Amino acid sequence: MKHIVAVEQFEREWVLSLFESAERMKSVKSSDELLRDRILATLFYEPSTRTRLSFESAMLRLGGQVVSTENAREFSSAIKGETVEDTVRIVAGYADGIVIRHHEQGAAVRAAAVSPVPIVNGGDGPGEHPTQALLDFYTIQDELGQLDDLKVALVGDLRFGRAVRSLALMFRLTRNVELLFVSPAEVPMGDDIRHALDAAGVRYRDEPDLGKALSVADVVYQTRIQRERFVTQSEFQAAQGIYVIDEVSMGLLGPHAIVMHPLPRVDEIRPEVDLDPRAAYFRQAQNGVFIRMALLHQLLGS
Ligand code: CP
Repeated sequence: MKHIVAVEQFEREWVLSLFESAERMKSVKSSDELLRDRILATLFYEPSTRTRLSFESAMLRLGGQVVSTENAREFSSAIKGETVEDTVRIVAGYADGIVIRHHEQGAAVRAAAVSPVPIVNGGDGPGEHPTQALLDFYTIQDELGQLDDLKVALVGDLRFGRAVRSLALMFRLTRNVELLFVSPAEVPMGDDIRHALDAAGVRYRDEPDLGKALSVADVVYQTRIQRERFVTQSEFQAAQGIYVIDEVSMGLLGPHAIVMHPLPRVDEIRPEVDLDPRAAYFRQAQNGVFIRMALLHQLLGS
């Protein structure tokens, strides 16, 4: 695989072998120089903490180097009217791989179409976030020891949340999983994802009652309402604050279950939940470094 732009590229065996590589990456040091003389460019047109910094940390831990623009929408030549395609053609001459985050859905695919070096989609508008989906899947495997025979509640903004859209598609690679979509009426899971799940035989249903979902779920994947994607503030206000996980909600959750979140969170998981051992979201974010090390090693290693 040269480029990583969408979850539909992934096959189960490849994902499991990436997880094995991620395990090995936990003991790799920069002095091992697995990616010596390789340069990664991180080209971010939208804000990021975890994706950009964990990719950069991963590259440095592999002994490689990084060039970066963290606000490419304003501080790259995009502001002068340069297209993504032209920017990528240029940056490919400076780096051996490019992680791109862009505000337009499909931008990573357009970048990959012209790039002679590997392109990794670090999030394309409300489209996809495939490397987040990999680290989310790795976290489920790591925390629960299984990817099959699960009930998974996907909660919050299922319309604009690219992380949860990509994660839903990952369950095409599993057996006997049921997805529960718990979303405000303004932000339901898109028909494109539903059709892909139908084609793969993945069971799903809409469940507007968060309490009912929590009482049966093995995994609860909470998400932020994506304020920046709404056309009107009133539409955002209507969707916001409906599904909140607090100590009372945690009382409904099974003892074996976990709560995940791609982060950042606003107020949809109360801070008191952080102390509960079932709160897996900070461990989930840490896993991003190891998954991205494994990915970069595969894409950029000789
Ligand atoms: N989960 C995620 O994509 O976080 P950032 O927006 O901080 O990269």
